[in-house]
Amino acid sequence: MSSAASASSVPRTRFAGRTALVTGGGSGLGRAIALAFAAEGANVVIAGRTEGTLKETVGLIEDAGGTAVAVTADVSRSAELAALVEAAVERFGSLDVAVNNAGVLRAGQPLAELPEEDWRTMLDINVTGVLLALQAEVKQMRTQPGGGAIVNISSNLGAHLSLPGTTGYGATKAAVSALTKGAAAEHMGDGVRINAVSPGSSDTSMSLRQGESLAQRTERMKTSSPLGRVSSTAEVAAAVLYLASDESASVVGADLVIDGGAAA
Ligand SMILES: NC(=O)c1ccc[n+]([C@@H]2O[C@H](COP(=O)([O-])OP(=O)(O)OC[C@H]3O[C@@H](n4cnc5c(N)ncnc54)[C@H](OP(=O)(O)O)[C@@H]3O)[C@@H](O)[C@H]2O)c1
Repeated sequence: MSSAASASSVPRTRFAGRTALVTGGGSGLGRAIALAFAAEGANVVIAGRTEGTLKETVGLIEDAGGTAVAVTADVSRSAELAALVEAAVERFGSLDVAVNNAGVLRAGQPLAELPEEDWRTMLDINVTGVLLALQAEVKQMRTQPGGGAIVNISSNLGAHLSLPGTTGYGATKAAVSALTKGAAAEHMGDGVRINAVSPGSSDTSMSLRQGESLAQRTERMKTSSPLGRVSSTAEVAAAVLYLASDESASVVGADLVIDGGAAA
């Protein structure tokens, strides 16, 4: 066996004994991120509004030999976030990592036609949801001797790129990027390290246009992305785990774009 092969077959345990919370963990990127943390030894708390999908993620983690619990919570409600953090600490003893991944996309029309209700929904979940989550998480993490690490899931849209039909969504994600940078500076003295990952089109249903099939998306990406494809959920998860791990101990307030060069 080559040394490269033997190194890659060693199980990684960067998060052994740590508690990792992933919001929006019942599907898409959040599910992949939750599975990746569990595979590296974390006790994972998966949150979202739909109990059934959260339990599916827990099942996948347990089938792979990991440990996870599902907690239903709406990130736009501060009381539910406080209860979520409390549940994580009660179950596993600490909150070491939090990934604020829950988000929604309402897009497809120019700004003048964006329904006010869609705008308010995106603001509530994408912006207020991340702000309230940061507040609940920092309050807990700063009481712990080891502090904690938080990764917000933003987007290449907003702070890094604009795309017709996504201006409202991009504005909410630009706010997530700004919240990340500001909160990172304000709370590093509390022992809480905050960063963001900004994905571009990734392999989840969110990157499908209305009525588009997977095959049609594959064709569209060949010409619309410099890389010629969507990012895999594993590629995005790997960036999140890096920013949540001790390997990135001196990385604070970064916003790592994972988009195959779309915003380059
Ligand atoms: N996929 C992409 O191409 C892409 C690109 C850039 C950024 N992103 C961002 O990546 C994140 C994950 O997206 P995804 O692609 O994995 O899409 P997804 O499969 O639709 O996941 C979104 C998750 O957020 C949860 N959620 C939505 N509103 C919530 C609320 N109020 N409270 C708690 N949970 C809520 C959803 O679960 P419930 O509905 O059950 O609550 C769902 O599990 C989002 O923030 C998205 O904006 C995605």
